[in-house]
Amino acid sequence: MGGWGGFAGGGVTRGRGGAVDPVGSSLVSTRAAQGFRHGGDVVCAVRGLTKTYPAVRGRRGAPATPEIRATDDVGLDIRRGEIFGLLGPNGAGKSTLVRQLTGLMRPDRGSVEILGHDIVRHPERAARILAYLGQESSALDELTVSLAAETTGRLRGLDARRARAERDDVLDELGLTPIAGRPLRKLSGGQRRLACFAAALVGERPLLVLDEPTTGMDPVARRAVWSAVDRRRAEHGTTVLLVTHNVIEAETVLDRVAVLDRGRVIACDSPAGLKERVAGEVRVDLVWREAAPLHVPEVAALRDRVVESGRRWTLRLAPEEARAVVATVTGGAAFAALDDFTLATPSLEDVYLALGGAVRQGLVKA
Ligand SMILES: Nc1ncnc2c1ncn2[C@@H]1O[C@H](COP(=O)(O)OP(=O)(O)OP(=O)(O)O)[C@@H](O)[C@H]1O
Ligand SMILES: [Mg+2]
Repeated sequence: MGGWGGFAGGGVTRGRGGAVDPVGSSLVSTRAAQGFRHGGDVVCAVRGLTKTYPAVRGRRGAPATPEIRATDDVGLDIRRGEIFGLLGPNGAGKSTLVRQLTGLMRPDRGSVEILGHDIVRHPERAARILAYLGQESSALDELTVSLAAETTGRLRGLDARRARAERDDVLDELGLTPIAGRPLRKLSGGQRRLACFAAALVGERPLLVLDEPTTGMDPVARRAVWSAVDRRRAEHGTTVLLVTHNVIEAETVLDRVAVLDRGRVIACDSPAGLKERVAGEVRVDLVWREAAPLHVPEVAALRDRVVESGRRWTLRLAPEEARAVVATVTGGAAFAALDDFTLATPSLEDVYLALGGAVRQGLVKA
């Protein structure tokens, strides 16, 4: 079967450094991936989408929470057959955005049109045109894997025979048949997530909306997820909207990505296109044995420019600056305090930081 594809625009697929992800590393460009590149039609058009959670007054010692504009004038076009990603730190508004796209939450203003349907005016139509896997899915917890998949098919209008046949196919495809009889609540986190994903696939829809589908999954399960999505795209032209924190996954599976920060889209491009924006820079990671040796003036001088994460310092620098930093920390008084260092070309995470995302906060979940 086909693979995921080089990124639109760049056409490059590669693993990053030593952290080659088995999910994406062997994947090649496909017909489907190229389809939208030549002006494919828009499946989902979002304009001016804004949602504010109201302030909550504190009661009896409980602190008040201010209002939060979780999505702020968001505009997007998702094209047929593409894997479109939403990337952003915790609280950026990704789940709030997809809940508005799936008709589960009413925006304060703005429009969502999916396959010609106005989802703000007719949220009930969303269920007929898209499959949604929420970030937290507990609705199916009491059911067995088998029944969760079958029930979803029935709810989507399949007759009993068809629902059972599709259930069997999907469970088989995802390697879930051996645990088909077990209730979801008794499964491991990754197994449960895979079972929910399986249920989302029964009774196919032209648009798949997946909110962090692979959280907690091992590489085999993740690969099964991406193969299953890929097959649907190749065979039925399925479009996928994917929320993810996994930057490596994002770089390998997404055709285009919107970077969200505090409710706003701060960039939207192919992963390769986004990375070109910081192509002139090098990422330097310094890992200290204990604390950074701030008594060394050259190290102290870097402090304002680093993203600190425990013992790790990350810097984005021009190549000659990077060379100077490496010379300093490997040659002088700082060397004794240094545990490890790496130089790398920029990742999507660097792009995010360069775009002015929430300062000193990375994309990858701890
Ligand atoms: N039901 C709610 N009531 C009030 N505020 C909310 C609610 N749900 C989310 N928020 C706030 O809205 C903002 C966006 O939250 P959202 O869940 O959309 O973020 P996210 O990008 O999906 O984050 P994560 O990566 O952690 O899943 C956050 O500041 C969050 O605290
Ligand atoms: Mg979320």
